Amino acid sequence: MVPARLPFELIRSPAAMRARAEDLRRDGLRICVVPTMGYLHEGHLSLLRAGRARSDVLVLTLFVNPTQFGPGEDLSTYPRDEAGDLAKARSCGVDIAFCPTPEAMYAPGHKSYVQVEDLDQPLCGASRPGHFRGVATVVTKLFNLTRPHLAVFGQKDFQQLALIRRMTEDLDIGVEILGMPTVREPDGLAMSSRNAYLSAEDRAQATCLSRGLAAAERALQSGERATEALLAAARAPIEAAAGARIDYVELRDAATLESIERVDAPAVLAMAVFFGKTRLIDNTVLDLAPVA
Ligand code: PAJ
Repeated sequence: MVPARLPFELIRSPAAMRARAEDLRRDGLRICVVPTMGYLHEGHLSLLRAGRARSDVLVLTLFVNPTQFGPGEDLSTYPRDEAGDLAKARSCGVDIAFCPTPEAMYAPGHKSYVQVEDLDQPLCGASRPGHFRGVATVVTKLFNLTRPHLAVFGQKDFQQLALIRRMTEDLDIGVEILGMPTVREPDGLAMSSRNAYLSAEDRAQATCLSRGLAAAERALQSGERATEALLAAARAPIEAAAGARIDYVELRDAATLESIERVDAPAVLAMAVFFGKTRLIDNTVLDLAPVA
């Protein structure tokens, strides 16, 4: 039997969220959570639609999590549009929007953090010390408050997804993790809330990330396996974009995130590129074509 749809609810209090989730579980309903920092775009909405199709109760969390931003990063200027987000959420069939305040999530005296060793070190972890500790901590808290059976995340944040999968397994959290493909603008730019920061000129050049990924994919298709050559192919379009400054372009084992000399197993080509103060990330998994 398909359960009747619930009336839309906006919940701000963590205690109220957990009490509601416990009630829904007691009623035997399957809960899906989609954690976000808001300013929703089609990438986020694709996660909501995937969650909607696989659960009875769809929970969206909107929370710009201070513990995952370093000093000098964009916490205070991170784009926000709660009213717009709630309208989009409702149009995707969200049942509950959980929008806590930072004060409610991190009460005075908060001392506990979750660390996922090794996976938090390379790539974005190297340029953003403490970032993944903040992500792992808030995701754990959001899981504990929303009590989901299923949680949906984007492959756009490949390292984040890998870390959350590891953490969920290591800590016996008992939540199924679903990863969804990156949603892109028609010209290839991966959708991101941070794209809103780009000037018209930088926006035009920002396609260099996806062009770099495509160049490496072509090189792989034509038989190239060596990390150095694949990285050179990926870097070329970025180096040719005047406004772009590479933070990192790296190729690593897709499962362990360890560095590799050549592609013999699925590998993630991941990059972070600055346009002014705006840092964009993108990635693709390079896999050897199956033998026909
Ligand atoms: P945020 O950047 O808002 O992203 C929320 C979710 O949307 C993440 O799972 C992210 O991977 C996914 N996403 C972002 N852009 C996407 C795109 N173009 N295509 C598909 N999915 C996309 O990631 C975070 O927030 C935070 O770190 C969070 C997990 C909420 C913890 O604070």
